[in-house]
Amino acid sequence: MRIGVIGAGSMGAILARGLAKLGHEVAIASSRGPGSLAALAAEIGATSVSVVDAARAAELVILAIPTKAVADLPRALFANVPSSGVVVDIGNYHPELRDGHIDAIDRGMLDSQWVAHQIGRPVIKAFNNILAQSLRDKAVPKGTKGRIALSVFGDSSVAKAVVLRLVDDLGFDPIDGGDLDSSWRQQPGTPAYCRDLDAAALRRALAEADRSRIVEYRAEREAEIRASMASAERR
Ligand SMILES: NC(=O)c1ccc[n+]([C@@H]2O[C@H](COP(=O)([O-])OP(=O)(O)OC[C@H]3O[C@@H](n4cnc5c(N)ncnc54)[C@H](OP(=O)(O)O)[C@@H]3O)[C@@H](O)[C@H]2O)c1
Repeated sequence: MRIGVIGAGSMGAILARGLAKLGHEVAIASSRGPGSLAALAAEIGATSVSVVDAARAAELVILAIPTKAVADLPRALFANVPSSGVVVDIGNYHPELRDGHIDAIDRGMLDSQWVAHQIGRPVIKAFNNILAQSLRDKAVPKGTKGRIALSVFGDSSVAKAVVLRLVDDLGFDPIDGGDLDSSWRQQPGTPAYCRDLDAAALRRALAEADRSRIVEYRAEREAEIRASMASAERR
């Protein structure tokens, strides 16, 4: 498959590397232009391109950028991309730590609904609830006991099937979590967020999440990150 990865930081680089290793034709981009990613792309077996080209040429595009940066993507980025193209949002909204406040999300829009609205395309939400280190180090073959499961949310079953297959191919048990309106179940701080759960535990965690706690979950997660950053600084 032709895959465009927009964002080449912790997550984008790991996904691009894993997908290239699976034999996909991977193009990677960031805001600094293709030259800045040439060495990384060569090392992982991908091509470095502009953000526009990453979106235009791909059958599947992964948005691996901070939530606030979605608003800075080129206007009408997906206007000429066929509607069969799948867009995956792996982002997490961190208002206090990184993104600043985004009114629509603060008023109740889900993270990925906001992203879809910004880019004018439906998105599939996936890979947002696994830490980069686990994504890089904990992939195992299908059937391995305790294999980490990753849930995928979205409104198109066809697009979701494509992403579920990639999850499996990358070394994780794929779980169809439901439509995009249920994707809050794996937003920051929920029981299903970044806990490296197997399939049965992930299903339970998704089910036990409480929609009325979205804001609280996020604040708790940001507090945890802040505390772990402070403790790392003290070391
Ligand atoms: N790190 C994790 O463990 C983890 C896990 C799950 C989900 N996530 C989520 O995944 C997303 C990416 O996280 P990350 O940790 O990979 O971030 P990161 O390491 O900070 O990398 C962000 C990447 O986005 C690029 N970027 C920023 N603004 C851009 C723009 N306007 N256009 C194109 N590229 C842009 C940056 O490159 P330039 O500055 O050169 O453009 C960089 O390559 C975030 O939403 C994060 O919350 C992270």
